[in-house]
Amino acid sequence: MKIILKNGVVVSGTGTRTADVLIENEKITAVAPNLTCDDAVVRDLSGKMLFPGAIDAHTHLDLEVSDTVTADDFYTGTKAAIRGGTTLVIDFATQNHGETLAEALENWHKKADGKCSCDYAFHMAISEWNENISKEIDDMMRAGVTTFKLYMTYPAMILSDGEIYEVLRRLKEVGSFAGVHCENASVIDAHIRERKAAGLLGPSSHPKVRPDTLEAEAVHRLMTIAGEADAPVMVVHLTNKKALDEIRDAREKGQRVFAETCPQYLVLDEKVYDLDGFESAKYVCSPPIRAKENQQVLWDALAGGQIQTVATDHCSFTLEQKAMGRDDFTKIPNGMPGLETRVDILFSEGVGKGKLTAEQACRVLSENPAKLYGLYPNKGCIAPGSDADLVVIDPRKEKVITAAGQEQNTDYSPFEGLAVKGCVDSVYLRGQLVVHNDKILKEKTGQFIKRGAPQLEL
Ligand code: URP
Ligand code: ZN
Ligand code: ZN
Repeated sequence: MKIILKNGVVVSGTGTRTADVLIENEKITAVAPNLTCDDAVVRDLSGKMLFPGAIDAHTHLDLEVSDTVTADDFYTGTKAAIRGGTTLVIDFATQNHGETLAEALENWHKKADGKCSCDYAFHMAISEWNENISKEIDDMMRAGVTTFKLYMTYPAMILSDGEIYEVLRRLKEVGSFAGVHCENASVIDAHIRERKAAGLLGPSSHPKVRPDTLEAEAVHRLMTIAGEADAPVMVVHLTNKKALDEIRDAREKGQRVFAETCPQYLVLDEKVYDLDGFESAKYVCSPPIRAKENQQVLWDALAGGQIQTVATDHCSFTLEQKAMGRDDFTKIPNGMPGLETRVDILFSEGVGKGKLTAEQACRVLSENPAKLYGLYPNKGCIAPGSDADLVVIDPRKEKVITAAGQEQNTDYSPFEGLAVKGCVDSVYLRGQLVVHNDKILKEKTGQFIKRGAPQLEL
């Protein structure tokens, strides 16, 4: 099957140009003005923009956590992803205590294989560190799981500072790096004890026990550990200026540090925790939503290249699941949905409001994650030889984000009522038109993608 997409504005991380794109089967074979091909189907994209398929490098689908399982599994989550312009998710395969990494990977394949409507890959979240696990790192790299995740918080996942040091050194040997969840677990626990003793058990206690200073302290510690290990590292779901300043300081010392943020930290602020009653449980995620002044800091850092990627940290629960913590905020499952709305929000709030150029949006949504996570240039660019994963954005299309209109399997949206302008019009996954006008035309055509070595120079 051959398709020519005509007259679209083709976006890359370095420029935009009006051009035609020739797709042959799964691949892009030409990008140039005035392309012709006798046996190709022609689709006119005048007035529309063509981005490489967006990559969401931080999702938690079908994850057992907090005595429940996330509302979205790989079937519903990847349908939401593709509808929202994300053609590849990198989910966190997670090692439970006592498991080998091989068992965790097998478990994640069982959850995902045959169910995905966008392409998918895995990072490996390591919850236990010893010599045998260290040996398995080579197996993971061979299996295409070429980046890892570590937690400085959560009892089921936390590694000690020394273990983090050892993991980072080991990953450096194989040309990999870890994304790290940075929060100071011990002081958070002390804050929790204080709030509980004072009878402050509602969801508005959540941000109080996890302040930005405790994120920044953990980022500082991680920078020290990564410096000692002389290893690259990524801070995931960065929320605030103090934490970003720690990264800037480390970079000034010559360290290689990457950072990721998420739409919820760019467009929501801490007032969500002032909502009446239990309403604010919808926004219980870690790290929490921060004070408004952090939003512009994060946008500026995206535009300036100090934050390299925007992912969602999609970890969705229904209101009924959130209600598990009705009498105790520490029992509210942490996380929020976002897979379906990331591209629309970044385009509308970022490009539409002049906070990001189209090229910068392309870098943080697609090109940079493709490079960092060993997918480039198969993914992350519109060029001959690349997979024909494409998102058509209509800059004039408007909609209002609502739970009722979403594919993701939750009964609320953290962005309810947000009007967006400049939305996903259609999506191609390896050459097939899979979404048009908000309708999913083809399901379950996603493939597991074995990733290559990370590219550390962006
Ligand atoms: O609250 C969150 N972010 N839950 C998902 C797990 C994590 O910390 O990334
Ligand atoms: Zn995290
Ligand atoms: Zn996460």
